[in-house]
Amino acid sequence: MIRLAILASGGGSNAAAILRYFQGHPQIRITLIACNRQTAGVYQVAENHHVESIRLERDRFQNGDAYLPEFQSRQIDGLLLAGFLWKIPAPLIQAYPNRILNIHPALLPKFGGQGMYGLHVHAAVLAAHETESGITIHRVDEHYDHGDHILQAHCPVLPNDTPESLAQRVLTLEHTHYPATIENYFTTTLNFEL
Ligand code: GRF
Repeated sequence: MIRLAILASGGGSNAAAILRYFQGHPQIRITLIACNRQTAGVYQVAENHHVESIRLERDRFQNGDAYLPEFQSRQIDGLLLAGFLWKIPAPLIQAYPNRILNIHPALLPKFGGQGMYGLHVHAAVLAAHETESGITIHRVDEHYDHGDHILQAHCPVLPNDTPESLAQRVLTLEHTHYPATIENYFTTTLNFEL
């Protein structure tokens, strides 16, 4: 069984899509949700799906052991970032080489990096007069939004789009593509021992 943890910071709609997809899956189990916020919708998502959740304190995560003991004691094989706003510190990058995925709501390398999250991304896409946007699912390394791309999916930018309307169209792409990309990556691409 491949055990994965989700790291999230917000409403958890991606976490919910992932949990629904892997409900009863023969090879992959989402066994933990970790969140860096005191309150966030993702805690309710975890409760709804009977998945344990833990709170990440900034100093221990960024300058301490990065909660590696919690992940290892649960035999976690990989980490899934789903709307997670902190950079992943070296202890986790080293413990999970090529086993941390992130989804970014734009077509990297454009519109990525520090500060490019949520509506800021879509406002920047509109300000650049792009005719299309989309998502990038990529491996995570020690830089923001920087690792190898695993999948990109595109959607149009419409003339009367607002950051909110574009965000909604991109979020739908995220929910559609992230779960199956995770499944393919951890069961095939990584040739995981099943
Ligand atoms: C959204 O902006 C999404 O594009 C990005 O993280 C944010 C929150 O997503 N991946 P979620 O609803 O918390 O999954």
